Amino acid sequence: MPKPSFQISSFSKHPRQQLYKLVQQTGETLYGILVSDFEFESKQIDSFGDYSTNIAFVYAPLVKKSPQVIAQELQTALEKNIPASIAHIEIAANGFLNFFITLHGWNLIAKNLSYPKPRKKFFREKIIIEFSSPNIAKPMSVGHLRATILGDALAKTYTHYGLKPVTWNHLGDWGTQFGKLLVAYKRWGDQKTIEKDPITELQKLYVEFHQKADKDASLEDEARKEFHKLETGDHQNRHIWRYIVDQSLKEFNRIYGMLRVTFDYIIGESFYESRLQPFIAWLKKKNIVQESQGALVIPLPDPSLPPALIQKSDGATLYLTRDLVSLKYRAQKIKPSRILYIVGNEQALHFQQLQEVNRIIHATSVPFEHIAFGLVLNALGKKFSTRTGDIITADEVLDQVTTRTREIQSKKTGQSLDNQEVIINTLATGVIKYGILKSNRMSTISFDFDSLFSLSGNSFPYLQYTYARIQSILKKASRRASFTQTEKLTPADTKLIHAISNFEHAVDTSIRARSLHHITDYLFALANTLNTLYEQSPILTDQNKKTKVARLYLINHTAHVIQYGLSLLGIEVQEKM
Ligand code: ARG
Repeated sequence: MPKPSFQISSFSKHPRQQLYKLVQQTGETLYGILVSDFEFESKQIDSFGDYSTNIAFVYAPLVKKSPQVIAQELQTALEKNIPASIAHIEIAANGFLNFFITLHGWNLIAKNLSYPKPRKKFFREKIIIEFSSPNIAKPMSVGHLRATILGDALAKTYTHYGLKPVTWNHLGDWGTQFGKLLVAYKRWGDQKTIEKDPITELQKLYVEFHQKADKDASLEDEARKEFHKLETGDHQNRHIWRYIVDQSLKEFNRIYGMLRVTFDYIIGESFYESRLQPFIAWLKKKNIVQESQGALVIPLPDPSLPPALIQKSDGATLYLTRDLVSLKYRAQKIKPSRILYIVGNEQALHFQQLQEVNRIIHATSVPFEHIAFGLVLNALGKKFSTRTGDIITADEVLDQVTTRTREIQSKKTGQSLDNQEVIINTLATGVIKYGILKSNRMSTISFDFDSLFSLSGNSFPYLQYTYARIQSILKKASRRASFTQTEKLTPADTKLIHAISNFEHAVDTSIRARSLHHITDYLFALANTLNTLYEQSPILTDQNKKTKVARLYLINHTAHVIQYGLSLLGIEVQEKM
């Protein structure tokens, strides 16, 4: 059956996609093979054209011709039927095809720009995104803060993308450390002091336990017994544990409230307690576990991995055991198409073990991924440390950023900020979230407070400033922005049209990398393009009515993209600054 010839009916709507298809179809017609794993990049550098593709390199091994020859053949075929939107096609020395858009093309693209909105839900797929997962009886760390912000933004971006994220918080509320805490609580805990500041006090008690246990080994034994009592339902121990969990949750919920982050499920490790023994019995029955000095292990074929410890010789289960049971539970309960674990890179080995064990025991066939991320360090590139009085917890980071935001705001307004706490909170969380998300998730971040607040660099305040600037221009203009064909578009205008039309591409790239920095990079470039345009071409005083209205239209679109793009990151913008 002959293939219908490719018609570029509305090149303008999604220029990248349309051009992509045109190139793809031309390749198929020429070589009889349909390829899809080629890149199609949007270039902002003039000499490389507006869009560029490496398709010739993909065909080269398939049709046994050099990339250059293929690029030439494609160019000739494309030029026979060149759409009015394309000025010309160039071949870069090594075989890249570069496309240059005409003024007519930019006009079409501009006219058909639409405000970003969630994509159609093509897939009803659910995807579990686990993030935050802090530990009970300890303050939330900056690492957990990074996980929280990353996971929340990823969930929002997936929603835009058309999937249904199920957000999951796997609280660390179980394990032998609670035996230690129980010993310390009973021996040295003072109810009144604890009630004043539970988390700090519990943390101190935990440290005290370790100091004393160094000298007195019997304490470790006592801790094991206390944990065993907790596991077997001892009334007093359960009561103390519950108190600790509640106090911690109160603290975590305060932070989640500040960040405006919510979860569909908050399920602690303790929840799996009753499922652990049946699980271990099943492993035994299937002859999957081996006994090793009284402990139960699953040997792993990968020689770089230590055997998976399932149960210690004293009968206690482990973090890994609970993760296996939880994995199975999540898969059965939600029936997701995928599970993502947003957890620090320090736990890479743990997740490799989880993968390997699952390959052996087939707990689930649902694919799961460890979405690792790098460390969070202080401005000097060192680990946060309490000893030097350096900030260390999520709470303290939020506090510092909020204080600084309040100072800046009060200097600006020169008045009391009594009624402004909501605005200050919105700005401060924007600063933190943006500051964390702008880094590639694998890179180590150093918290440099000056750059978080920079008004000209890649920061939330810069985007907020740009957004507010646009709003104030639009307000002054007091005319409806619309777009009609204009010959007066300057390079600064077409650059802005190009930038606005690249939004969905930035989302795709972020989803593929599971890293939001592609969105922040995009928004930063967009804001820069806008500010360049504004500095070069006056908008409000432009004598040409048509260009003026067209530019109002473009800056209005820019504002919508900034607002929407930031909302995917969990950040709200203010109309004024
Ligand atoms: N509570 C753990 C910690 O803070 C993180 C849990 C990660 N999630 C998981 N399913 N293991 O180290």
